[in-house]
Amino acid sequence: MSDQTITILAIESSCDDTSASVIRDGKILSNLVANQQIHELYGGVVPELASRAHQQNIVPVVDAALKKAGVSVAELNAIAFTAGPGLIGSLLVGTAFGKALASSLHLPIIKVHHMDAHILAHFIDNPKPSFPFMCLTISGGHTLINIVHENYHIEAVGHTLDDAAGEAFDKGAKLLGLPYPGGPLIDKLAQNGNPHAFDFPVPQISDFNFSFSGLKTSLMYFLKEKAKTNPDFVKQYLPDICASYQFAITKHLMTKLTKAAKQYQINHIGIAGGVSANSYIRNELTIIGQKQGWKTYVPDFQYCTDNAGMIAMSAYIKYLNGEFAPKDLSPFAR
Ligand code: KG4
Ligand code: ZN
Repeated sequence: MSDQTITILAIESSCDDTSASVIRDGKILSNLVANQQIHELYGGVVPELASRAHQQNIVPVVDAALKKAGVSVAELNAIAFTAGPGLIGSLLVGTAFGKALASSLHLPIIKVHHMDAHILAHFIDNPKPSFPFMCLTISGGHTLINIVHENYHIEAVGHTLDDAAGEAFDKGAKLLGLPYPGGPLIDKLAQNGNPHAFDFPVPQISDFNFSFSGLKTSLMYFLKEKAKTNPDFVKQYLPDICASYQFAITKHLMTKLTKAAKQYQINHIGIAGGVSANSYIRNELTIIGQKQGWKTYVPDFQYCTDNAGMIAMSAYIKYLNGEFAPKDLSPFAR
């Protein structure tokens, strides 16, 4: 198998990004994403609108990804897609399209777990992490600590008990009157703010688990209290509020990651998922990593937020292991 060229088309449609990627022999040839701006109008992802937009985008995005890669469908060895977790209507578009295309081309299908793919995005570019590798995956729907062992075997170590880190950013941003998705905006505004201007409670949770709902509630009460005496408080202190809130989220994430790394004695450490695009978190990982003697890893920006490149990489690993999905596979929800 090793001297045969392996080319896979991968599709990601779990939430509000329609993405397609082509991978050949472990190298990403294209990774295109069609974002759905429509959700900004509603302050969050509207599942019904997301599936409709996927339906509109999927054919053009796949065509463009193949074209950019310079690959024809006749050269493909398999079709891969995100089978879950995600919004069921969104997942159905990608899985149905992938299965139909594979069927028409008589190709095998490969199902990919969306969160595993965020972690395996670390194995796209060089330098690749060594095993065992500990990854903090922070996205809009999940917050996880995992260990990747030899043969890409993924072990769960910790998870959020309520909101995900991305939700903490987005819901906090909503309280501040910022549009969806608020995470990147908080990141940007915080760059001109003081992270120690205000004190938000860093959650205290046992083991390697997380909790963000209390933090979001504390921001809500804090803003209500300040508004009583100063109706322009948010306007006047927006960068400082963003920086202080982001500081508390980051402190919680990094405290747990450090604790888990010590417990499992792992020093190859990375972050993944949409929130790993956050500049403050990326910087903190580097600073803490230097103190702890870690070798740290952060995926390229295009492989942090939802993208089919990470699905393609995961599918390539599965192809090499002969892990194909049955034709009657149905997607699984969150
Ligand atoms: O991984 P992702 O693209 O989608 C899911 O699988 O959920 O993550 C989306 C999340 C959103 O909550 C978004 O606000 C957050 O990632 N995000 C950020 C940044 N860029 C994206 N949060 C903080 N700072 C950023 N720069
Ligand atoms: Zn994601």
